[in-house]
Amino acid sequence: MTTSHAIETVGLTKAYGDQQVLRGVDLVVPRGTVLALLGSNGAGKTTAVRILSTLLRADSGSASVDGHDVATEAARVRASISLTGQFAAVDEILTGRENLVLVAELRRLERPDRVADELLARFDLVDAAERRTATYSGGMRRRLDIAMSLIGDPPVLFLDEPTTGLDPQSRNEVWRTVRELAGHGTTVLLTTQYLEEAEQLADRIAILHEGRIIAEGTLAELRQLFPPATVEYVEKQPTLEEVFLSIVGHDTALSQGDQR
Ligand SMILES: Nc1ncnc2c1ncn2[C@@H]1O[C@H](COP(=O)(O)OP(=O)(O)OP(=O)(O)O)[C@@H](O)[C@H]1O
Ligand SMILES: [Mg+2]
Repeated sequence: MTTSHAIETVGLTKAYGDQQVLRGVDLVVPRGTVLALLGSNGAGKTTAVRILSTLLRADSGSASVDGHDVATEAARVRASISLTGQFAAVDEILTGRENLVLVAELRRLERPDRVADELLARFDLVDAAERRTATYSGGMRRRLDIAMSLIGDPPVLFLDEPTTGLDPQSRNEVWRTVRELAGHGTTVLLTTQYLEEAEQLADRIAILHEGRIIAEGTLAELRQLFPPATVEYVEKQPTLEEVFLSIVGHDTALSQGDQR
């Protein structure tokens, strides 16, 4: 297998009992790009992410991440990646700051306090830093979760439904972070149910359906798969999101929510 790509899979299969979930997944993610993996509930997105992050073994096929084979070089893969799972992994007993310090210590970084302070500021969590995360809102938890996953600057990041359940402001915050990371050369594989999220963030989009990648390409390439839309003249109405954000404000609602 070549190692020129950040993520590469060939013919990955996985079954749970007699349920065949992945039937031969072939995927390539060039370094420094964002790939959005789309698929309906139960399509196998989380399963694929778990295989790529070495939490689960494929039945057959091969996969490499950052040039390392997920089956035979799992430790090296783990050193190169970070995973933000579909369900937030923060420790509720600890404060936001303690969670970050803990991860920085586990990653053996120098000055864990400073790492924590920087991330708290970046993710707008300074005011909540000394509170137990059990008291955080869903959006705050998710932001903390992503902040934790960035500690140590892993070159490859897996984000499994990073914005599910977030309000529009928090979601924009996550999007901004993903763009920033991609701009600095991090490779991101994210799964999402939100097509707009894929449009906004992804360099390339892959659609997982019935165990295989049935379409892959840039948004423009995917659009070409469909016949050109007939031109209709309609008055452009603002989207609900635009209305919501203009009423609530892009920044104020977020910080008010945090201080609750
Ligand atoms: N540990 C497991 N044991 C048995 N079946 C499982 C297990 N994990 C997942 N499955 C099944 O495999 C299929 C794919 O699950 P997976 O979580 O990968 O889908 P997904 O695309 O991430 O879905 P969602 O959009 O709901 O997160 C589902 O039918 C699920 O019920
Ligand atoms: Mg999932």
